[in-house]
Amino acid sequence: MGYPRLFRPLVVVSSLAPLSLAAFQQVSNDQCNCFLTNGSRADFFTTHKFFDYREKTEYASVPSLIDDPDDSSDAGPTSDYFSSDEWTDNWTIQNWNNEASLSGDVSDATILMVNSPNNVYIEKNNDENADSSTFLTMRTARLDDFQTAAEFESAVRDYHFLSVRMYARTIGAPGAITAIFTYRDIADNTDLTKVQESDLEIRTIDPPDHVQYTNQPSYTSLGLDVQEATRNVTIPQKRDWTNWAVYRMDWSPGTTTWYINGDEVASISFQAPRDPSLLILNSWSDGGSWSGNMSVGEEAYLQIQWIDIIYNSTGAPPSKRDEQSCVRICSIDETEQIGTPVLLQGSASSVLGNVGSFAGILSWVSVLSMVTTFW
Ligand SMILES: *[C@@H]1O[C@H](CO)[C@@H](O)[C@H](O)[C@H]1NC(C)=O
Ligand SMILES: *[C@@H]1O[C@H](CO)[C@@H](O)[C@H](O)[C@H]1NC(C)=O
Ligand SMILES: *[C@@H]1O[C@H](CO)[C@@H](O)[C@H](O)[C@H]1NC(C)=O
Ligand SMILES: *[C@@H]1O[C@H](CO)[C@@H](O)[C@H](O)[C@H]1NC(C)=O
Ligand SMILES: *[C@@H]1O[C@H](CO)[C@@H](O)[C@H](O)[C@H]1NC(C)=O
Repeated sequence: MGYPRLFRPLVVVSSLAPLSLAAFQQVSNDQCNCFLTNGSRADFFTTHKFFDYREKTEYASVPSLIDDPDDSSDAGPTSDYFSSDEWTDNWTIQNWNNEASLSGDVSDATILMVNSPNNVYIEKNNDENADSSTFLTMRTARLDDFQTAAEFESAVRDYHFLSVRMYARTIGAPGAITAIFTYRDIADNTDLTKVQESDLEIRTIDPPDHVQYTNQPSYTSLGLDVQEATRNVTIPQKRDWTNWAVYRMDWSPGTTTWYINGDEVASISFQAPRDPSLLILNSWSDGGSWSGNMSVGEEAYLQIQWIDIIYNSTGAPPSKRDEQSCVRICSIDETEQIGTPVLLQGSASSVLGNVGSFAGILSWVSVLSMVTTFW
């Protein structure tokens, strides 16, 4: 497993039982002081949220397209779910359009794009052997006169490093981009020197086994490409973006690392975002060179069963932790039940035995330094 060596003894201890994920005890978020990621680097985070769209049958319905740009912007939520606190306290659906950039030379967009709340909805999963009842869909469609699109951003606007995973797929016509990315909210996002952003983007004009990862900006003010900023990656295991997969992005100090179904596929230190940022998901097209044109009457979708995120934020209220200690270290990776953390270390439970109580005397800082030592 991808943990620093500090944690390896736990596996030895628990190997009295068969070596499996079940060796770790499932706990609630309250029972965790911090969350540790697996993978090529171990980061600790203070907070965990799990957004689950798999069993929301009562809200499932696919809304008809709205063929007027203003009405699209002004559309209400597609079901009561999107006006519930569970949704509105965590995400904000966007309704801006790109009209301003169509006239300037800031972008090479060729079509009016309008973000609409009407394009974010819960849909019944009609897959053969479906592994959920429902999922959340973000739709983009080309109408006669404009492109209707979907975007929502996190209510938390000051993530300061995170590890986010979404179980998702992209399907539909060429000419769309589907994406999940961190975004530093700045007054003037045309000032390239201020841009900080880590992206996963899927271009539906590209071959379905390719995805693009970028620490923006990926171009200069002269329009030249910045090769170090971006990676064009082949999805492992002969799979493609039309298949459900866990897309993970770890925004860490100094590097952003991306995984697909647990396999590390890209890591970029160049231009790694430094300052507090939001998280944004979208599905769009503007007829520019990056997205390409979608044909009139066509649609594409980003579909999401769940989003699992562990993070720090700069504005978080003082946490329950005593004096910054992280006694009870949890994982969202080593669990058999997605979304429910397991305790890696720090309990007096029989699974962890004495190793747990030894951790009790360590402060967060010394746990961290041990991790660094054993890396
Ligand atoms: C998150 O916050 C904790 C507590 O302040 C800190 O120890 C940890 O290093 C932070 N994680 C990252 C990735 O910055
Ligand atoms: C969204 O935010 C509210 C707090 O306002 C919280 O009660 C709820 O659990 C959150 N949803 C998820 C999935 O974390
Ligand atoms: C990524 O590589 C594939 C295969 O060479 C190519 O078809 C695709 O256009 C590339 N995507 C980008 C964004 O460069
Ligand atoms: C991290 O956990 C995920 C989810 O369980 C798993 O797919 C992946 O292989 C693990 N990575 C490492 C390096 O152990
Ligand atoms: C998209 O279509 C417009 C109008 O037909 C055209 O001017 C533009 O070059 C096309 N863009 C791309 C990337 O093909």
